Amino acid sequence: MEKAPRAVLFDAYGTLFDVYSVSMAAEQLFPGQGARLAQVWRDKQIEYSRLLTTCNHGAHYEPFWNVTEKALRYAIELVARPSDSMPADGQFNSKNGEKNEDLAVSQLMNQYRHLSAFPENREVLAALKSRGIVTGILSNGDPAMLDVAVKSAGLADVLDHVISVDTIRKYKTHPDAYALGSNATGLQPKQMLFVSSNGWDAVAATWFGYRTLWVNRAGLPAEQIGLPPTRVGTSLRDVFSFF
Ligand code: LAC
Repeated sequence: MEKAPRAVLFDAYGTLFDVYSVSMAAEQLFPGQGARLAQVWRDKQIEYSRLLTTCNHGAHYEPFWNVTEKALRYAIELVARPSDSMPADGQFNSKNGEKNEDLAVSQLMNQYRHLSAFPENREVLAALKSRGIVTGILSNGDPAMLDVAVKSAGLADVLDHVISVDTIRKYKTHPDAYALGSNATGLQPKQMLFVSSNGWDAVAATWFGYRTLWVNRAGLPAEQIGLPPTRVGTSLRDVFSFF
């Protein structure tokens, strides 16, 4: 039987922190459009991260916080155009539209800074630590945003590593980004488990050589490209099936 992993690394956004928890705040600002705004925001954020990594050998890199804000501005432009779905009081139609957009951006970015963590996270991380398993985050997030997210979710004491791709200025799914995990722990990818709720992240980590758990919280179809993850689960608790 294969030995249990010696370290478990987690993706941050979507896996430990609920990126769609911003929907409620978005809904208040853009009635009827909150869920769509959150979805477009997330998709655009990931698209921009790939754009920055794949073009001109990463010459256009920007930290994930900036990428996230620019993706949000795009999502607002798309979802809340003055011509259609504006709030009833028409605040975004006014000549103050730009100022109001800035206000919405600052409110939503502040929410993003303090995203809710999924409820089982702390218990799972604490249980891993108590078994002597190395724990960590391997994320596109830049160090400052990860630091605030980890502290506001109360996870600092149950994480051995908080690894940001910012040190190499390349986003996942670049293999150099996944290599940061084995460099930090000194373990081979096969001795480690990488956990993500993002199907594409699980595919890329599996290709890189990690054992993987895809936490399919949203009940999405399996990715049609790449190797299947080692296991598929529905919550972070499914990590325990590897031990
Ligand atoms: C991360 C994003 C991709 O935390 O979810 O790396």
